Amino acid sequence: MKNIDWQHLPFNYFKTDYNVRCYYKDGKWGDLEVSTSEFIEMHMAATCLHYGQEVFEGMKAYRGKDDRIRLFRIDENAKRMTRSAKGLLMQNLPEDKFIDAIKRVVKLNEEYVPAYGTGATLYIRPLLIGVGAEVGVRPSKEYLFLIFACPVGPYFRDGFKPVDIMICRDHDRAAPLGTGTYKVGGNYAASLTSLQIAHDNGFATTLYLDAREKKYIDEAGPANFFGIKNNTYITPESTSILPSITNLCLTQLAADMGMKVERRHVPVEELETFEEVGACGTAAVITPIRKVVDIDNNRFYEFCKDNKPGPVSTNLYNQLTSIQFGDQPDKHNWVTFVE
Ligand code: PLP
Ligand code: COI
Repeated sequence: MKNIDWQHLPFNYFKTDYNVRCYYKDGKWGDLEVSTSEFIEMHMAATCLHYGQEVFEGMKAYRGKDDRIRLFRIDENAKRMTRSAKGLLMQNLPEDKFIDAIKRVVKLNEEYVPAYGTGATLYIRPLLIGVGAEVGVRPSKEYLFLIFACPVGPYFRDGFKPVDIMICRDHDRAAPLGTGTYKVGGNYAASLTSLQIAHDNGFATTLYLDAREKKYIDEAGPANFFGIKNNTYITPESTSILPSITNLCLTQLAADMGMKVERRHVPVEELETFEEVGACGTAAVITPIRKVVDIDNNRFYEFCKDNKPGPVSTNLYNQLTSIQFGDQPDKHNWVTFVE
């Protein structure tokens, strides 16, 4: 293992030794290639540069107490990347090749998978870009698929500690029938202004509302939203949010704990009735929310008495992370080992 201060890693780019690439040209995908370069060369008229033909994924590799390296639900990431690629009329990489590429990049950089017990992980970032030259608005005929990996600490600075978030009423991240449900770079570009406003006002991130009516909760920055009340796990149904794999796991774990699960529209005012609320995602894991501030309506909603995560969020967090790090049996078959 590399000699890195795992405990104090930010969630940021960190150079590792290898990345894995694959090119689509002349109607077919080539072989996976291993590269040590951090740079890519491409045509200045590539469609990813002009028309945003770019989709990506995010997942993590976890080192267990037994020193084995685990990947988590990568088949779901493979499926979502296919969906995102199809959504932007891009050639998708066959899912078995996607999975091989992930295992390969992790194996090649295994010395960068953080030590067990530090809370840090190896973040894996696959991306797919249109690299063919076009000037008219049309899909590329050539694509590059690339995966790099970086050791990271928690996305929200303090890890499993409550954060405050802000409702943003004058910016939308995605349209009701737009690309919000795909993991495309453009959605994140569209979120930057509101994120900046949230940060400038001292909030960890933005809570987006549905773009049509501004009535229902959509997403919490780069993560899905959930609320807990009356032994029920409630998460928004929406055509403009990314279907989170972490959220999918939490609905299963909540059901395993004997909770009811509801996926439905969640009106903003319902915040008043929740016992706990949180954000969930690969990078965010579970981030408990302490306060939701609706500045424009001069309202706020408070949770996390004594500044501590609620009991259900804590239980879900412990269950999820103990499967990811191999401390609990993988009863749903979510883990893939990198040997
Ligand atoms: N929503 C958005 C906008 C995201 O960027 C992410 C991160 O991937 C998520 C939700 C959470 O998805 P997942 O749990 O699959 O990482
Ligand atoms: C993830 O959770 O993997 C994400 O992609 C969030 C990211 C935009 C930081």
